[in-house]
Amino acid sequence: MPRKIIIDTDPGQDDAAAILLALASPDELELLGITTVAGNVPLDLTTKNAQMVCEVAKRPDVKIFAGCDRPLAHTLVTAEHVHGKTGLDGPPLPNPKMPVQDQHGVDFIIDTLRHEPPGTVTICPLGPLTNIGTALQKAPDIADRIQEIVLMGGAYFQVGNITPAAEFNIYVDPEAADIVFKSGAPIVVMPLDVTHKVLVTQARLDAFRALGTHVGRMVAGWTEFFERFDKEKYGSAGAPLHDPTTIAYLLRPDLFSGRHINVEIETGSKLTRGMTVADWWRVTDRPANATFMGDVDADGFFELLTERMARL
Ligand code: BDR
Ligand code: CA
Repeated sequence: MPRKIIIDTDPGQDDAAAILLALASPDELELLGITTVAGNVPLDLTTKNAQMVCEVAKRPDVKIFAGCDRPLAHTLVTAEHVHGKTGLDGPPLPNPKMPVQDQHGVDFIIDTLRHEPPGTVTICPLGPLTNIGTALQKAPDIADRIQEIVLMGGAYFQVGNITPAAEFNIYVDPEAADIVFKSGAPIVVMPLDVTHKVLVTQARLDAFRALGTHVGRMVAGWTEFFERFDKEKYGSAGAPLHDPTTIAYLLRPDLFSGRHINVEIETGSKLTRGMTVADWWRVTDRPANATFMGDVDADGFFELLTERMARL
């Protein structure tokens, strides 16, 4: 039986690749719905981008729910400098026609977790944790019903990408992240420590394009667009493809390794707000609350991604 998932996202070119990877894997994953959140760009754009990605995959039947348009306690910080004005800059796409559901994303998350048998729904957050934090705040009973939260966010060895101390998704809404990490739900974290090892090199980008399909060209075009920023910043051979690591983990957990440790979120300090304080070296007796990944088989990851894109 495929594993039931909800993708919570702020597309974002790398979010787009993650959504496509899930849609390409129906034997393993049943996508119950996509909830959108303000993050890389404001909510109206992340929602439109989610629609466009589903249409690229020829899946206008996917249920998309718009969620929160701002973080719990602070003003929204966006990342147009990375993802472009639309959030999904790259090859042009027509305006989407598929519908957005009337229900709020947070209510969809709560209702789904309450109606499906406990322990059977996994949530994959690929953006700021506002929707998940709000859902847990509104309906604390859902924490025990979540199978797993597999999220992209945070960093320990790589520290930060939006500030010297914080990764973007956690930085945008640390209060929401704090709720999630304290919720007691099982959590798997794909931090920058992992995603900075899955770089879209020229050869990997060429492999997407060589598929000769619309999806292959789109993934190549998207990654090529947001590469320019990270390549310049890190001087690396290619940009990290952050968000699809979460879906890849659901398909091939053997590609990843990490530690079950305590992870807490800095919400107080102005200087280090949004820092994921990960007890990687187990120097405290704070209880473990998350599996924090540290390594990945990057070639295996790209082989999986390319092979799945070929199915769309
Ligand atoms: C995260 O921030 C976003 O810009 C990306 O989509 C990814 O989810 C990386 O820090
Ligand atoms: Ca994202």
